[in-house]
Amino acid sequence: MLDAPGPLPRDMLRDLLGIRRDPLAYLRGAVQRWGDHVAFPLPTTPVLFVNTVAGARRVLVENAGAWSKRTVQYGALSLVTGSGLLTSDGSAWREARRVAQPAFHRSGLTAVAEQSVAAAERLRARWDAAGGGPGGAGGVVDVDAAALQATLEVVGRTLFGGDVTAEGVDDGERVVAAVLEALGVVVSRARTPVPGWLPTPSRRRLRRANRVMDEVVERVVARRRATGELGEDLLGLLLAAVDEGRLPPEAVRGELVTMVIAGHETVASCLTWTLHLLARHPEAQERLHAELDAVLADPAAPGAAGAATAALRPPTWEDLRALPWTRAVVDESLRLYPPAWVVTRRADADDVVDGVAVPAGTLVIVSPWLLQRRADAHPDPERFDPGRFTGEGPAVPRGAYLPFGAGARLCIGRDFALTEAVLVLAALLRDRAVHPAPGHEPELEALVTLRPRHGLLLRLVPRTAPPPPAERGRPAPPP
Ligand code: HEM
Repeated sequence: MLDAPGPLPRDMLRDLLGIRRDPLAYLRGAVQRWGDHVAFPLPTTPVLFVNTVAGARRVLVENAGAWSKRTVQYGALSLVTGSGLLTSDGSAWREARRVAQPAFHRSGLTAVAEQSVAAAERLRARWDAAGGGPGGAGGVVDVDAAALQATLEVVGRTLFGGDVTAEGVDDGERVVAAVLEALGVVVSRARTPVPGWLPTPSRRRLRRANRVMDEVVERVVARRRATGELGEDLLGLLLAAVDEGRLPPEAVRGELVTMVIAGHETVASCLTWTLHLLARHPEAQERLHAELDAVLADPAAPGAAGAATAALRPPTWEDLRALPWTRAVVDESLRLYPPAWVVTRRADADDVVDGVAVPAGTLVIVSPWLLQRRADAHPDPERFDPGRFTGEGPAVPRGAYLPFGAGARLCIGRDFALTEAVLVLAALLRDRAVHPAPGHEPELEALVTLRPRHGLLLRLVPRTAPPPPAERGRPAPPP
């Protein structure tokens, strides 16, 4: 028994539908009613919800060795990934992390930057083709669907770039489609648990998707080996580690599928909610436009002098450091809408968290969503204020901001994601602004990541030319 207050089993049964429909509201309500440590009486496993900075730190950083990822959340994901960085533990995890890490250093990130801008440019072209100008005729687009497509392209092409079959079929697209199919099954299964031995259509779909992933990865590996050069990207590093006996052969599939899963919906969620926040905070968006005007102005580009649209060039990797406000907007969006809204661990040994004795086997839930909205850590917590990350607003305390997790299991894709989000935003918004779509109010849904339940509609509006150089740095006039 956990020595913490919480609902009775019958309360939980009564609330089951509400928990499924809106787990964030349920967790928030639980904290309001029972405090920062809530025990949930699940029949098989004791569950403790921890809503303090110190408690999160104890589990994720200070005593992380006593905690594993053998949780329901990661068990479901491993049905798709097999063994992979996100779900594995112990020495298998440590070795795989060591092998994969260099792929996320600078040389890998410049490729991410290139693919991010290319994906944003294709998206702009699709929007323009749909309506004959920036934003299309009606100007209303579903930015959630667009962000998902763009981030899938980035992760697919970064990981499988150049690995296109002789028949011209893109294996990146194939594996991504199979991953999405498998994830769909796993998510719906988590919501309606059916005994594992029942041969349901969804189980058959999962098997089929897993087969496709196996085949594609096998082909990609064979093609890479046939070139005689393994290369320095993630695939090359994984294959070299298999050859040296550091990783088992199945790790290649596990890690590639893990990156597709961990690396697309998370960034799409970040982009979608960032655009939503910008649409509702014109002053923050104007400052972002002013920054883009100052950094991306291209005097050589046609249309610079007084044309209808700003003649700004696409951003590059080298521009990243010069876009601190755009970055602060992303950071603040990740505070208010952390895509990974819960992080879970299982106690492998007895521990004490914030004075609560936690026996081995207990499942602990930490929610970046709730921690990052604590008023004692983030003054006026519901207010969107990118100035918190530029030194202009209240400082963000260490430990109270963990959209990418914390400790040794910190997201390996953090810099990948931030590079991608900042450059996609800069590329998309350099000649257009986002405004709310009349009559549309997005509904938050907490699934694997935070998503808008029925998409997120925004109105795209062309911007006018950038102000003359002398006026740059001041906020741009409203579009
Ligand atoms: C805004 C985007 C992203 C967010 C919010 C995010 C969030 C997170 C969080 C919270 C964790 C830690 C989970 C835990 O401790 O249980 C994590 C781990 C991980 N993420 Fe991300 N992530 C993002 C983007 C990416 C990208 C782009 C990739 C890869 C291309 C990626 C790959 C991974 C992997 C492999 C892990 C497991 C790392 C390990 O345990 O060694 N993530 N992510």
